[in-house]
Amino acid sequence: MFAKSLTSLSILAVALSLPYQALGHAIITPAIGITGTPVRADAVRVSSTVPCGNGVDVASAIPGSAAAQAAGNAFNVTITNFNGGVDGSTEIVSTLVDPSGTGASFTGGSATITTNGVEAPATTGSVPIAGTLPDGTVCTGGNDGASCLVSFATAGGFGNCVLISQADSA
Ligand SMILES: *[C@@H]1O[C@H](CO)[C@@H](O)[C@H](O)[C@H]1NC(C)=O
Repeated sequence: MFAKSLTSLSILAVALSLPYQALGHAIITPAIGITGTPVRADAVRVSSTVPCGNGVDVASAIPGSAAAQAAGNAFNVTITNFNGGVDGSTEIVSTLVDPSGTGASFTGGSATITTNGVEAPATTGSVPIAGTLPDGTVCTGGNDGASCLVSFATAGGFGNCVLISQADSA
């Protein structure tokens, strides 16, 4: 009886610990501050207070970083996950838009994700993410004076910022 209770407790403990393992290593590209192909060690956690990721110096990460080109309000980025299962979520659960393109003021609302990843992908790899900036967004920063800085957060709590440019936007 005692042994059985202990087993039940162990199962409960494992079940309770699972959500804390659901921390996906994933990167949305083109990510600011990452040159070349992103690797697992580049993945950082994001939060509402650190929308571009823990330890990321936004001001020094932006110069030289590529931007995703918008068409109207629509944009495409790519998410790459480095762990399968719930550890490598490719699902974007929140976004923040900084029209000034500096990372200083994420006051532009949220992008709408129209093509998303999945909460618990079966494999590692890359999948497309599509979205739209809020209607009326005017991007005025980045490296071309026409980019917004957009923060993406995954279901696993990872994410980063991407420059999205309206420079050639119709
Ligand atoms: C995003 O990708 C889709 C599918 O390839 C394409 O049809 C669309 O034009 C792209 N949009 C932008 C803004 O690049």
